[in-house]
Amino acid sequence: MLNLNADFKARAVELPELFREVFTASESEDEGRAVSALAADLLNTTPDDDLLGVLAMDRDVLVGCILFSRLHYDQDPRQVFLMSPVAVRTDRQKSGIGQKLIGFGLEQLRLHGVDFVVSYGDPAYYGKTGFQTITEEVAQPPMPLSMPQGWIGQTLSGDQKPIEGPSRCVSAFNRPELW
Ligand SMILES: CC(C)(COP(=O)(O)OP(=O)(O)OC[C@H]1O[C@@H](n2cnc3c(N)ncnc32)[C@H](O)[C@@H]1OP(=O)(O)O)[C@@H](O)C(=O)NCCC(=O)NCCS
Repeated sequence: MLNLNADFKARAVELPELFREVFTASESEDEGRAVSALAADLLNTTPDDDLLGVLAMDRDVLVGCILFSRLHYDQDPRQVFLMSPVAVRTDRQKSGIGQKLIGFGLEQLRLHGVDFVVSYGDPAYYGKTGFQTITEEVAQPPMPLSMPQGWIGQTLSGDQKPIEGPSRCVSAFNRPELW
């Protein structure tokens, strides 16, 4: 039985290592280090109001995590969050945990009044939880995208209008190589 979002603050110290292990196994040691550093930076430097973390626990074992951080659109009143990074423990992948965790995270954002969520990933996988490929006209990314085909998003409020104007990410994402 999964327990989603147990006590985030108490378990946050474990997250960089979870991301390191998962991305080292799925991509490379360099990628593991980079995503681990990104997670640590997000946790250490993002204002509370701009970060939402969701966890999947199996009893006392951390099996998955997603970090959501705010994208500021100064010309649009809607609240927009970025979903990244996402990880499920390597030995627990492909059993539905990722989709449950994403669905739970989106519901938490909706409850917090968030209107729109974007991410940067494989549309084939994230389409299972409502994401669709979007263009930069729908929501401008904060930096040039190296893979525009991976820019995905979905409305949480039903408002389908494009988000107005340029965006700013939180400082941990303020690095061109992450985009
Ligand atoms: C991507 C990830 C979060 C998915 O979590 P998961 O718990 O393994 O996925 P689920 O069990 O919920 O979903 C499994 C389904 O998605 C598919 N799937 C999983 N990863 C996929 C991917 N990268 N691309 C396309 N499909 C994928 C599976 O084939 C399966 O399909 P099915 O439901 O038709 O059988 C997880 O595999 C992971 O942590 N991977 C390594 C890190 C990573 O790539 N993170 C995402 C980028 S930030």
